[in-house]
Amino acid sequence: MAEGPLHDMGGNVSGKVILGTKPGCRMDIPAPCSVVIFGASGDLTRRKIIPSLYRLFAIDLLPSSFFVIGTARTPISDSAFRDSMQEAVKDAFSEDFSESSWQVFSEMLYYTSVEYDVQDAYVGLRDKLLALEKTHGTRGNRIYYLATPPAVYEPVIKNLGIAGLSKEDGGYRHIVIEKPFGSDLESARHLNRTLAASFAEHQIYRMDHYLAKETVQNILMFRFANSLFEPVWNMRYIDHVQITVSETLGVEHRAGYYETAGVIRDMFQNHIFQLLAMTAMEPPAIFNAESVRDEKIKVFKSVRPFNLEDLPSQVVEGQYDKGTMEGKEVPAYRNEPGVSPESTTPTYTALKVHIDNWRWSGVPFYLRSGKRLSMRKAEISIHFRPVPHLMFSHTMEESIEPNVLILRVQPDEGIGLHFQAKNSGSRVCLNTVLMNFSYQNAFLLDGYERVLLDCMQGDQMLFVRSDGEEQTWVLLTPLIERLAADTDVRPGIFPNYSAGSSGPVQAEELLKRDGRAWRPL
Ligand code: BG6
Repeated sequence: MAEGPLHDMGGNVSGKVILGTKPGCRMDIPAPCSVVIFGASGDLTRRKIIPSLYRLFAIDLLPSSFFVIGTARTPISDSAFRDSMQEAVKDAFSEDFSESSWQVFSEMLYYTSVEYDVQDAYVGLRDKLLALEKTHGTRGNRIYYLATPPAVYEPVIKNLGIAGLSKEDGGYRHIVIEKPFGSDLESARHLNRTLAASFAEHQIYRMDHYLAKETVQNILMFRFANSLFEPVWNMRYIDHVQITVSETLGVEHRAGYYETAGVIRDMFQNHIFQLLAMTAMEPPAIFNAESVRDEKIKVFKSVRPFNLEDLPSQVVEGQYDKGTMEGKEVPAYRNEPGVSPESTTPTYTALKVHIDNWRWSGVPFYLRSGKRLSMRKAEISIHFRPVPHLMFSHTMEESIEPNVLILRVQPDEGIGLHFQAKNSGSRVCLNTVLMNFSYQNAFLLDGYERVLLDCMQGDQMLFVRSDGEEQTWVLLTPLIERLAADTDVRPGIFPNYSAGSSGPVQAEELLKRDGRAWRPL
């Protein structure tokens, strides 16, 4: 193992971090394949999918035999599609855009128009696929990527099945589905049934781009590959856990979706509950997709159902008002384009959650997420119990801050441990210092690049299984429905936090009542 550079540990301490650069850690290049994108004229294709494929190509991680077929309703030529994707890739990479790489990559891009609910259109798609597979030698391995609005998922899935395009008759057939995966328990179950009628579970890749973030994957490595932390990872040593995903962005141009979704559907049912599961799960016997996903389900099943008769002690909702962000005035949510001036959609939620099992009994998990907050930040902080006996109390006036371990998901990805150290000098005086590991300057794949690669490799570890998707809806559907039914309360309280602030004051109260406080954003 190679030793990495000395990392600056901040505060009064310094130390050394050993970085793994073993040859076995290099990424494998996947077998030849093609990607069919449904919704190729949409935002997701332009902002994420094509730029990610282009970057994988530029860093030599795409298979040598590869092509993409973009599909959407509007008929356009291959060359018009290539031109439009070139703009998208230029926007994404600005000065890192390479004309010569693009020339080679763009020759692998094709387009065919598909009316999603017309069966015959899939016959045309199949013919084009078979012809291109011959030309490019991709051996029938295919990924179908659903980047359409969710309303179109069902006809596409059904028609792929009817046209025989889901059958693995020489080559794999994987299907990637973006969130939102349903809007409640019933619709998620319905979507799972629709998928199961055409595809087997091993072919289905339900996407949660948070799972693909390097630091989220590192939670499991950190917990289970170090003997130091697991013995204290429980109710005996941990006082509480905080999970924060705060955003500076507002709703942008997504009001159509967000007005019906709100923050619990948008951020909690997927990203935040996945972070919760990774933090709280038991170690699986082996590290493979099925065992890890089995353990995550057990966490979801142990989450105590919300007491719908006493929501104020567990939930705080918010909606942003106008405010100032980086010196600029920004509008209130209700004045954003496409948002109703009386909207009661929450853009902020804080939840207190209990996991009723042996490990976590009595340890609250406080979860919060919101838009237009003062910082863009995603982190999990593990707050340890205070020391049991204050032997310094007669010599020191200040109280001793308990240890906090921070798993920084983004930005400044890394891990920090806050602990106490004595100040130099003869007086007994303690300071909280930070021991810090940072991924800064490390080579990181973007979440979309990572999931595309994993899907090509057939690795479902970072994707959500059908039961995982449903179990989070089991927990959250009654809560969402009860909160939405309180329509007489929300219009009066919203908006209740200014853009650029740290959220509604009521969220502070949620922890204050328990004698705790949020970590500052
Ligand atoms: C998406 C949500 O899933 O995640 C967005 O729909 C949110 O509303 C986004 O902005 C946050 O992702 P990231 O990777 O920017 O933290």
